[in-house]
Amino acid sequence: MCGIVGYIGNREAYPIILKGLQRLEYRGYDSAGVALYDGKSIQLCKTKGKVGDLKKKCETSIDTTGSLGIGHTRWATHGVPNDVNSHPHFSNSGDLVIIHNGIIENYESIKKELLNRGYHFKSDTDTEVLVNLIEEIKINEDVKLGKAVQIALNQTVGAYAIAVFDKKKPNEIVVARLGSPLAIGVGEDEFFIASDASPFIEYTTNAIYLEDGEMAVVRRGKDVKIFNIKNDKWVNPYIQTLQLNLEQIEKGGYDHFMLKEIYEQPQAIRDTFRGRLREMEGLIKMAGVDDNIYRFLNARRIVIVACGTSWHAGLVAEYIFEDYLRIPVEVEYASEFRYRNPVIFKDDIVIAISQSGETADTMAAMKLAKEQGAFVFGVCNVVGSSISRLADAGAYTHAGPEIGVASTKAFTTQITVLTLIALKLAKEKGKISTSEFHRLLQELQQVPTKVEKMLESNKHVKQVAEVYKFATNCLYLGRGYNFPVALEGALKLKEISYIHAEGYPAAEMKHGPIALIDEQMPVIVIATRKGHYEKVVSNIQEIKSRKGKIIGIVTEGDETVKKLADHVIEVPETTDSLSPLLTTIPLQLLSYHIAVMLGKNVDQPRNLAKSVTVE
Ligand code: F6R
Repeated sequence: MCGIVGYIGNREAYPIILKGLQRLEYRGYDSAGVALYDGKSIQLCKTKGKVGDLKKKCETSIDTTGSLGIGHTRWATHGVPNDVNSHPHFSNSGDLVIIHNGIIENYESIKKELLNRGYHFKSDTDTEVLVNLIEEIKINEDVKLGKAVQIALNQTVGAYAIAVFDKKKPNEIVVARLGSPLAIGVGEDEFFIASDASPFIEYTTNAIYLEDGEMAVVRRGKDVKIFNIKNDKWVNPYIQTLQLNLEQIEKGGYDHFMLKEIYEQPQAIRDTFRGRLREMEGLIKMAGVDDNIYRFLNARRIVIVACGTSWHAGLVAEYIFEDYLRIPVEVEYASEFRYRNPVIFKDDIVIAISQSGETADTMAAMKLAKEQGAFVFGVCNVVGSSISRLADAGAYTHAGPEIGVASTKAFTTQITVLTLIALKLAKEKGKISTSEFHRLLQELQQVPTKVEKMLESNKHVKQVAEVYKFATNCLYLGRGYNFPVALEGALKLKEISYIHAEGYPAAEMKHGPIALIDEQMPVIVIATRKGHYEKVVSNIQEIKSRKGKIIGIVTEGDETVKKLADHVIEVPETTDSLSPLLTTIPLQLLSYHIAVMLGKNVDQPRNLAKSVTVE
C-alpha cells in the first residue's frame, strides 16, 4: 500500500526522501512523487512507475534543494496509476501540499460541495479532495493549518495517514493517522515522517508511533505536538527506542529480499523459540498466554481471523489446536468475518494473525470480536504495529523485518508461535501426556536444523524450476497438515510468477481439478510419510494415469513416490504436525526460482502490497 516519507530539519530533504521511498518500495506501489520546499517555492515531481523513474525525472526537471519535503509511493485506489493521480497533491491556491495513504470514503459528497464552491480538481483522487477541504476550512474559518486539518478530518469517513504542509508555514508539517500507520523519527533538531521506521533508521532510533485518531504538528528545530483528532486533547509524546538496525532491512548479499528471508528461516524460528521453549524445564513460557491463562483454558472455541498467507498459517493452527487441545477452531477470512454477522461468544478466544500488524480487514474483524466481548489475541511480526496494540494480549513472531512482498519467514514463524501456544495449552489442560509433550518439544527444537538441511536442496529445486518455468497452470495437493501448505505453495507461485496455480486437498482433486490434468500440468504433491501417506500415493497414481507431471515433496528415503513421480524433493522426517515447517520451504524456493527465471520482480510483484491498509 501507499508509503509516506517526510523530512523537516537542516539537511537536504531530497536524498533522505528518495532513499526512504526506496525502503518503502516493498509495500507495493505503482507511482511515486515528491514535493520539496526551500522556503521560497515548492518543487513538485511525480510519475507513474518506480522510485528509480521518479529519481530520473526529478533530477532533470526540478531543483531538488530544500530542507522540508514529503514523498509518496502510491498504490492506486481512486483513479488509475498515472502522473496526475500520483501524490503529492496541491490545494487550489497552491499553498497546501498533501500525501495520503488510505481511502476517504465520503470524498464524492465533499467533492460535490467543493465543486459548487468553485474548486477544481486535476486528479481523480480522494486525496486532492481532502487537501482542498482543508484549504476551504483554513480560509473560511481563518484557522491555522493544524486546526484546519483537524476539522477536515472530523468531516471525513475512511482511513488515512497523511502529511501536509503549508507554503506559508515553512517550519512545520502536520500529520495524522486513522487506520494507516505513521511513525515520526525524532532526531536532533530534525524530524522524519514515515509509514514505518525503515526510511529513518539510519538517522535516528527514536520514534513516536501515532495512535489511531491522533494528529501531530511537527515543528523544525522545536518539538512534536500531538492531539486527539476528535476531542482536541493534547497527548504526551511517547518516544520509543527502536531495536531495528540497517542490516536487517538490506539484502545482505542476496539477490532478492525473498531469498534472504527464505534463508533466514532457521534463525527466525530459533528467535521465535527464544525464552519461550524451555526444554530443560519442560515448559513453554509465553507472557501473553500465561497472563490470561484462565481465559485460554476456559475458552469455548478458538476463532482465527487473518488474510492471505497468515490465513494459511491459521489453517495449520486449526489442525494443531484441534489435534492437541481438542477444542473447536474456526478459521475465517477477516474480510468475510467482519461483514457477515458472525456468532461470537464472550468465552471465545479470537486469534488475529498478521505479519504487518496493519491489515485493515484483520483489524476490523478484531474490533468486531472485541465489541462482542471476545478475548482477542494477536500474533504479529511487526513490533508496535496497530494489531499488536489493538489486541488484548499477544505474541510476536520475532521473524525480523520481512521486506519481500511474498511472505516466507512470517508464515513459518506464525506456525511456530501457534504451535507453542497449542502445546502449552494442551499440556496445561492435560490433553497430552508429559512424555508426548517432551517428545514434541524436542522435535520442535530440531526444526531449525532440519530447515537448514532443507535449504541445501536449493540447487535441486532450481533444476526442477527450470523444467516447469513455462507452465501456465499448476496444481498443488496436500492432505491434513499439508493441505494449507498446498494452498500456500500455490499462492507463492501465482503472486510472484503470475502463473495460475491452485491448492487443493489431495482427495478433493477428484471432485473437479482432475479434469484439468494432462501432460502439460505440473502437480506438486506433498506426500510425507506421516500424513495420510497411502491415500496421497493413490492420488498420485490417479494423476499419473492422466499423464500429469508429478513433483513429489517426500520424506527422506521414500521409494514409493520416487517410482511414480517425475521429480522428488526430500524433506527430513519429523512429526506430522510440524511437517508444514519443512514442506513449505521447497515450495517457497520453487516459486522464487521460477519467478526469477521468468524475469519477474520477485520482491515487488505487480499489483500487490506488503501491508494492506485499505479494505
Ligand atoms: C502473501 C502475502 C499476503 C499477506 C496478507 C496478510 O505472500 O504476503 O497474502 O499474507 O496480505 O498480511 P498480514 O499478514 O500482514 O496481515
